[in-house]
Amino acid sequence: MKKELAVIILAAGKSTRMKSDLPKVLHPICARPMLGYVLDLVKSLKPKQVVAVLGHKQELVRKIIPSGVKIAIQKKLIGTAEAVKTGLSALKSFKGTVLVLYGDTPLLKKETIKKLLDYHLENEIDATLLTAYLKKPSGYGRIQRDKYFSISSIVEEKDADEAQKEIKEINTGIMVFKKETLESNLKYIRPNNRKKEYYLTDIIEILAKRNRLVDGIKAEDAKEVLGINTRAELASANAIVKKNINEKFMNNGVTILDPESTFISFGTKIGVDTVIYPFTVIERGVRIGKRCSVGPFAHLRDNVELKDDVTAGNFIEMVRAKIGSKTFVKHFSYIGDSFVGSNVNIGAGTVTANFDGVNKNNTVIKDNVKIGSDTIIVAPARIGKSAVTGAGSVITKNIPDNAVAVGVPARILKKGRRNG
Ligand code: UD1
Ligand code: CA
Repeated sequence: MKKELAVIILAAGKSTRMKSDLPKVLHPICARPMLGYVLDLVKSLKPKQVVAVLGHKQELVRKIIPSGVKIAIQKKLIGTAEAVKTGLSALKSFKGTVLVLYGDTPLLKKETIKKLLDYHLENEIDATLLTAYLKKPSGYGRIQRDKYFSISSIVEEKDADEAQKEIKEINTGIMVFKKETLESNLKYIRPNNRKKEYYLTDIIEILAKRNRLVDGIKAEDAKEVLGINTRAELASANAIVKKNINEKFMNNGVTILDPESTFISFGTKIGVDTVIYPFTVIERGVRIGKRCSVGPFAHLRDNVELKDDVTAGNFIEMVRAKIGSKTFVKHFSYIGDSFVGSNVNIGAGTVTANFDGVNKNNTVIKDNVKIGSDTIIVAPARIGKSAVTGAGSVITKNIPDNAVAVGVPARILKKGRRNG
């Protein structure tokens, strides 16, 4: 019979080793909080119930918890066993299988968890661990096996002796339990370790000694189980996700000339036959159309939208900007808080001066406009259809359709024709 599944996500811990004011699980990987990746994975498993255990700065973390996920608050941050106990308190009436995931292990794949769950259920195991073999296992709990090669306990790095530190098989932290087994054995865990914490990992030795069935399967790809405790591990995770994102775009018809130097945020949209030149950084909420050309050295910040056939060239910075199709912004420009139409040509060195020291102001540039090199547009300002600005002009007021504006501050040379 298929058992119901509940998931407990542990995300209450302090980010001691990150040395950060931000809770660890909110540290971004490719511009997305690491916990977001775990939440996505959980959603894809379609569990009956999900509990996120929060604690340290829970008011910040809960903002990214979707509705449908219960929140349980761990009052005393005294270890992963206490965290699981807190999670279980939100699953009182649940019966079935409990999967424990750590909020700082964001690279796990669904297939791996599925395999773990299948193995656990098919063999009617009490506790099934996901383990991994690492060439450099330091920092992780080590899996101890008895003479029959059965898992007998987990020893944390801090409590391990030299021989135990040599063990290459590690605890990834991902465990599946029969709920009843988990619930009835947590109480035997004691804080007998260097950190004086209640370690969930100690339940393994307890279960083994009580002749409960404990087993494990190995994660095939050790990269998946990377637990993030430090900024260096965060950088490793970033590198992996960045590579995955770039590969996905290339598989979907986007040319990335140098994936190494191309940083694309999670959730970016890019149309086919767009070419991304080297040293390009794309932040959150960016949408790029088809056949665009971006970079080299382009910085597209939050909420930029490029329609089809746009060129956002060398040394461009854009933020909160919408750029119409077939528009060129080719050389060193700053375009912020702007709505730019189609078939616009923005000359080299153009700046939208969007910040007056207090507020951010909008710039609107209508279709077919030609902005001369080195134009400064002091926002708020609107440049009408087919208008032209002279090189080096400083635009301080609205420019009508078809007008030509030159000078500092810009004056209008030729009025637009009425009614076209
Ligand atoms: C843990 C495991 C270790 C394993 C490693 C895998 C324990 C005791 N050790 O070590 O065997 O190799 O993960 O990455 O479990 N948390 C809470 N409440 C707490 C403490 C922690 O919710 O009171 C959460 C943290 O937010 C984190 C997770 O539990 O998401 C793991 O805690 P962490 O301190 O990172 O454990 P590790 O030392 O990495
Ligand atoms: Ca960890």
